[in-house]
Amino acid sequence: MKIMVVGGGGREHAIIKKIKENKSVEEIFALPGNGGIAKDATCVDIKATDIPAIVDFAVSNSIDYAVVAPDDPLVLGCVDALEEKNIPCFGPRANAAIIEGSKVFSKNLMKKYGIPTAEYEVFTNAGDALSYVETCRIPTVIKADGLALGKGVIIAETREAARDAVVSIMQDKQFGKSGDNIVIEEFLTGPEVSVLSFTDGDTVVPMVSSMDHKRAGDNDTGLNTGGMGTVAPNPFYTKEVAAECMEKIFKPTIRAMKAEGRTFRGCLYFGLMLTPDGPKVIEYNCRFGDPETQVVLPLMESDLLTVMMATSASKLAEVEVKFSEKKACCVIMASDGYPTAYEKGYEIKIPEEIDDKVYVAGARLDNGKLVTSGGRVLGATAVENTLAGAVKTAYEYVGKISFGNAYYRHDIGKRALDATEDK
Ligand code: AMP
Ligand code: GLY
Repeated sequence: MKIMVVGGGGREHAIIKKIKENKSVEEIFALPGNGGIAKDATCVDIKATDIPAIVDFAVSNSIDYAVVAPDDPLVLGCVDALEEKNIPCFGPRANAAIIEGSKVFSKNLMKKYGIPTAEYEVFTNAGDALSYVETCRIPTVIKADGLALGKGVIIAETREAARDAVVSIMQDKQFGKSGDNIVIEEFLTGPEVSVLSFTDGDTVVPMVSSMDHKRAGDNDTGLNTGGMGTVAPNPFYTKEVAAECMEKIFKPTIRAMKAEGRTFRGCLYFGLMLTPDGPKVIEYNCRFGDPETQVVLPLMESDLLTVMMATSASKLAEVEVKFSEKKACCVIMASDGYPTAYEKGYEIKIPEEIDDKVYVAGARLDNGKLVTSGGRVLGATAVENTLAGAVKTAYEYVGKISFGNAYYRHDIGKRALDATEDK
């Protein structure tokens, strides 16, 4: 089979490495992929958002199955466009990807169907939002409606910060049209859990849970990033919590989307907060998380391509989806300065013997050498019997990898380890 994967980050590298385990795969194309992915797939210089070019490529290369991994092409209707040409795809259509593409949509969906989430108000003009923040409870959380590269959420600790956030999103258009409307919501507290799930619209199968580390600095300080490391499973997500989430959140969400005529097929990511009042949805993503995927897929024992194809054919209930009991830790190595300004173009050295533990994100090939080209450069993932072992080994891998201007957090997994009885 010829497979096409749309996207070019660490998540896509993890997906490609896992898909390659299927014996029927002859060739994998990555659009655009990256310098590290080039070892495992044929990279094609087509942007993940260039839907007409993606469709042309898929048709002219007789692609048998496509995986659309990032949020933007999903929200833009990449799956719809490929399906029109009879190319089967993993990923939701645009009318379902809206669950991530519009926070106003997802909040209203949760309210309508009684799915637990933070209390909120929607604003369509800055004047009303500014009056609201004069009296609302502080801290408060201000969210741009549309996609904003993971930066559209501002936690305002003071009334002044709340005012500034409204002005920069709605008036100064910091995130362009994504900020035409905003959601202002209640500030929740508690451990966060990421749960990725396979769903074909009727059946929902959660994958192993994970914990992201979003802030740039050690001990959760500094700016929010796309994610600086992950562990799986998440020790806060006990069997009891999982059962509660299944009944109160996962199944109701799948049913709600179907009832709205927006059947979701693909990977639905539940960003949860375990509050003192029970688990609540912080956000939905219409795709695999990054870097959650770099710990979740290495623990998957079933064949990923088989599960993906069953998902898109609405036959998820017919396949087995199994995860190992082991633990995984992924440490992201970034360019120092990320998520703001950073230098790039430094050569990356990864010893051959740990090549299969590394998922490359921000790197390109320069005369055959792998050099840094992005903020998040790569992730090193270890799988061990214990979480402590996985954390230790992941940092050993990091110690063996080198590139100029490298930066990483030193405390990935610490919070999880502190909460784990069986270390
Ligand atoms: P998001 O981009 O939706 O993932 O939000 C980024 C981060 O903001 C989340 O991972 C949470 O840590 C935080 N966050 C979002 N909404 C809330 C909320 N209502 N209360 C507290 N923290 C929040
Ligand atoms: N790691 C968070 C995300 O993928 O949105």
